[in-house]
Amino acid sequence: MRKTAIIIASTILGLFVTSCNNSVKQQKEEKTESATTEHPHNMMNLSDDRISLNLNPKQKQHQLKNMRSHLAAVQQITQLLATDDYDKASEIAHSKLGLTPEMKQMCSMFGDENFEKIGLNFHNSADEMARIFKNRNKQESLQALSNTMNYCVKCHAGYRQ
Ligand code: HEC
Repeated sequence: MRKTAIIIASTILGLFVTSCNNSVKQQKEEKTESATTEHPHNMMNLSDDRISLNLNPKQKQHQLKNMRSHLAAVQQITQLLATDDYDKASEIAHSKLGLTPEMKQMCSMFGDENFEKIGLNFHNSADEMARIFKNRNKQESLQALSNTMNYCVKCHAGYRQ
């Protein structure tokens, strides 16, 4: 009698678990389906509404090289913060991303006032980040890094070569 009750209980439990699994599976399938149905739509939307800076080939190369260096700096800073090497992180933030005379000139040579403004704010925020790193506080440091990276995102959303 007791045995039967246990068998019934475990069967019910089994059914419950299976039905849960099924609904998870179903959700996954729905997700995949909507991703594939969205895809053609994205493919058709090829228009790039960002403002073009109309750079010549030489300027383009120079800018991209500069950008790759920005990206490398952000990677290095992240790594250095992870290991609490705040002094080195601060040095890189200032020397690679801060408002050096070269960067100041770079930002002003494209003849777009708003681009220049975002660029200058970006480099100033990097100098501010370099100062904040000196406090050796991880939370504040990550907040400052995020703040600087917001300018990367903002500029890329509005401008292209
Ligand atoms: C003031 C504007 C501006 C800021 C700030 C900026 N970028 Fe860029 N970046 C550009 C433009 C414009 C391009 C060219 C994009 C295009 O034509 O699609 C570019 C391209 C790039 C590329 C592509 C490089 C390649 O070789 O293809 C990378 C990577 C990049 N940026 C990283 C960064 C990172 C990381 C930051 C912040 C730490 C940053 N950028 C900040 C304007 C900016």
